[in-house]
Amino acid sequence: MNRLEFILDKKKVFFHELGGVYLDELEILIVSDLHFGKGISMAKDGFNIPPFDIDDTLSKLENIIKFFSPKKVITLGDNFHEKDSLKKIHKDSLLKINLLTEKYNFLWIAGNHDNCMKDENLLSAKSHSFYKIDRYEFRHIKITQEKDYTFEFSGHYHPKCSLRYNGSSYNYKCFILGENFCILPSFGTYTGGLDVESEVLKRVLKNKKIDLIVIGKRNILKKKLKNDST
Ligand SMILES: [Fe+2]
Repeated sequence: MNRLEFILDKKKVFFHELGGVYLDELEILIVSDLHFGKGISMAKDGFNIPPFDIDDTLSKLENIIKFFSPKKVITLGDNFHEKDSLKKIHKDSLLKINLLTEKYNFLWIAGNHDNCMKDENLLSAKSHSFYKIDRYEFRHIKITQEKDYTFEFSGHYHPKCSLRYNGSSYNYKCFILGENFCILPSFGTYTGGLDVESEVLKRVLKNKKIDLIVIGKRNILKKKLKNDST
C-alpha cells in the first residue's frame, strides 16, 4: 500500500493512501469521518444503495492498522453517521469495532454526527471533544490560527480536489496541510467530499502556504494550493 513520508516539525509522519496519517515517533494513527452506518441511514431515506459500507470501512480500518501497528488510534469525529447508527449496526460489526478499540487503544473524538456516542454504552470507550499530546491537538473541526504554536489535526470538511489529465478532470480525496494544521479526508465508504476550491474551504483556509497531499489511483503526491482568499 502506498504512503508518503513527510517531515513535519522535524518528525517523521506518513500519509497513507487509505486516508490516515501516522505519527511515527508517537506511534499514533489518525483517521477521520468514518461515518459508520451511512448506508443504513440512506436506505431509510429511500436511497437503496448496497449496505456494505460498514464492512468496507472496517476492512480498510483493519488494513491500515495492520500496516502501521500503532500503539494508539485517534479518530477525529463523525464516527457514526446518525443518532441511531450505533444501535443499528450489526452486532458482529460492533464487536469488531469494540475489539479494535480495546486492542489499539482507540481515542474517539466526537464530531457533529456523533450524538449517539453520548447516549449509548454500546461502544467500549467514551468519546472526547478534544485530545492533546505534546505539541499536537486533535479535534473534529479546525480552529487553529496562524500564530498558534500547536499543530492541529482535524476532519469535518471531507476535502477533495480536482486534477486535470489529458483534458479531463478527476476528483481525488486529499489531506490539507498548513504550517500548523492538517485537515484529513473522510475515511468512510460512501462519504463524499468538499472541493478545496469551494468558497467554504477558501474561508476556512486563511493561509497562503497550503499543500495538498492528494490520494491518487497509483500514488500519493504533494501539490501546492494557492489560496487567494487572503
Ligand atoms: Fe463528516
